[in-house]
Amino acid sequence: MKEPIISVRNLVSKYGEETILEDISVDIFPQEITVILGGSGCGKTTLIKNILKLCEPHSGSVKIFGKEVTNMDEAEFNRILEKIGMVFQNGALLNSINIFENISIPLEQHTDLPEELMGKIIRVKLNLVNLGKAEYLLPAELSGGMKKRAALARAIALDPVILICDEPSAGLDPLTSAALDDLILKLKTLLKMTILIVSHELASIHRIADKIIFIDKRKVLFSGTLKEAKSSTVPELATFFRVGKFE
Ligand SMILES: Nc1ncnc2c1ncn2[C@@H]1O[C@H](COP(=O)(O)OP(=O)(O)OP(=O)(O)O)[C@@H](O)[C@H]1O
Ligand SMILES: [Mg+2]
Repeated sequence: MKEPIISVRNLVSKYGEETILEDISVDIFPQEITVILGGSGCGKTTLIKNILKLCEPHSGSVKIFGKEVTNMDEAEFNRILEKIGMVFQNGALLNSINIFENISIPLEQHTDLPEELMGKIIRVKLNLVNLGKAEYLLPAELSGGMKKRAALARAIALDPVILICDEPSAGLDPLTSAALDDLILKLKTLLKMTILIVSHELASIHRIADKIIFIDKRKVLFSGTLKEAKSSTVPELATFFRVGKFE
């Protein structure tokens, strides 16, 4: 069996006195698409924040590329972050600069590439997400689907080994959402990325997921393949696969 690329053990996460995640253990395997599933407020974004050290875990272990990161110093962790692309739940493009400039940010922060080469890389990524003609537009001039794709282009600017997307297709129409799924599948097959996605969209999950992690009542109630998830007897998960939402 392959070694996990991200491995979380007995993670406890709290905001103040409130426990959000209790004893979470999950493995993310290389070159697979893992979907984190669970009702609103169950702690999906919190789990991602703990993995990325945007939240300090209360206790437990997070290993990335085999290395414990919870007590790692900032400089060493930054080298790990360079290999991780992130699309945040609320897009987070900078509104005052155009799309080309937005995508140049990680390249300027993490590389010393000459401007011309940087420009070429940015255009390759924009073409990959079908935004080749939008480089001079401001975020406000893009549709919802275009914004998501621009955020994705920025997340993959540095050719990350791991891509983490928090609800990339939320609020998109079915066609735009399907196009985004195709793109995510392309990143997996062509660029061999390991992809961790939070999603509630049943159709999308059927198209892209290799593995499912289901979080409820602060715990992981299921983790396994998509096929196993579809025949799971965990009641909340069975309901989700039947009706496409949590009741
Ligand atoms: N910075 C914070 N301070 C205090 N409580 C927070 C903070 N961020 C999230 N929470 C709480 O933690 C719980 C989990 O939030 P989280 O954002 O991880 O949920 P989620 O599963 O991502 O939900 P959604 O599907 O709506 O995005 C919620 O009850 C939320 O109110
Ligand atoms: Mg969330």
